[in-house]
Amino acid sequence: MTNLKSILINKISCKSIWFMRQAGRYLPEFREIRKKNKDFIKLCLNSNLSSEITLQPIKRYNLDSAIIFSDILMTPYALGQNITFIKEEGPRLSEFKIEVLTKNNKEKFTQKLKSVYEAIKITRKRLEKNKSLICFIGAPWTLLVYMLGLKTEDNKLNLDKYKKHRTQINQILVELNDYLCVHIKNQINAGADVVQIFDSWAGLIPIKDIKDFCYIPNKRIIDFCKSKEIATICFPKGLKDNYKDFNDFVKPDGINLDSELDPIWARSKLKDVVLQGGPDPKILFKTDKEILEVATKYIKTFKDIPYVFNLGHGLLPETDPDKVKMLVNFYRNYNE
Ligand code: CP3
Repeated sequence: MTNLKSILINKISCKSIWFMRQAGRYLPEFREIRKKNKDFIKLCLNSNLSSEITLQPIKRYNLDSAIIFSDILMTPYALGQNITFIKEEGPRLSEFKIEVLTKNNKEKFTQKLKSVYEAIKITRKRLEKNKSLICFIGAPWTLLVYMLGLKTEDNKLNLDKYKKHRTQINQILVELNDYLCVHIKNQINAGADVVQIFDSWAGLIPIKDIKDFCYIPNKRIIDFCKSKEIATICFPKGLKDNYKDFNDFVKPDGINLDSELDPIWARSKLKDVVLQGGPDPKILFKTDKEILEVATKYIKTFKDIPYVFNLGHGLLPETDPDKVKMLVNFYRNYNE
């Protein structure tokens, strides 16, 4: 079997499957641990539990890659911003102060995340050699959305706040970049071999700012990774047709499709990159026949080009674990 890192670096066509949020609330074995660990950040900082949770979906489905159990918000946490997770509402961060970036230092930052790196070390030892261990970061813009609270409750851009902070945004994105590169380097040194960069809120950026706030910050990170020979996957969710410009400009090794993109469009426009994902996670709420129809459409469209099976976003908490099993079995046994 070829692992994810080799697929990304050598751009080879080879079966490979994993899911975003493959370790999470849809799994009863995760909920069991979560029940006893009410503080989510503390759970992410518990190396043994984080490692155990990372391996839960590997044990259940024998997926090809593991993704370390952590969160993109561990970066603002390590910078000293206070984070709480409110049930049914999501994360809430304390008021942003520029000093968390300007009066901070890389050693302190690394120190606050050392149990994440320890979790990666433990997991790498426990994980089969031929499986990749994926680490991740939030892209600068997506982290900034949380750090400045730039989203409204219905997930739109809060334009008033955006305009208010507009002149400061570039500086924050640049300062964040250095910490994110440290976080990537530490995770790779601990034993991860692929990094995925989640720009989950790229779709909120007004078109005139997309290059400055999305393409350039992602490219800076990809260029850093290239200089260190680290395999990369970008996920600029919500960019629609601009996925093409993003890919041409940033040139990551892999790119995750969101479910809005037409797979045929993606195949013809996104070049020199390994494609990943695409299907709407909500298809798993449908009948087996409907699930397999959608899966077949993606598999057939990307026949003969490097494609990693995944979804267009993370698995949802309401997902039936047996449907995931059915989909994985179908993919494994699919022959053309
Ligand atoms: O299995 C994996 O994919 C690895 C673990 C992982 C988590 N979060 C665990 C988690 C990863 C890769 C993430 C990424 C993440 N976190 C993103 C980017 C991907 C995306 O979903 O767009 C974002 C935006 C976050 C921020 C975040 N973390 C939010 C908005 C929330 C609350 C809402 C939600 O989706 O659950 C979290 C909490 C979180 N992160 C949970 C998990 C398993 C749920 C925590 C719980 O048990 O209550």
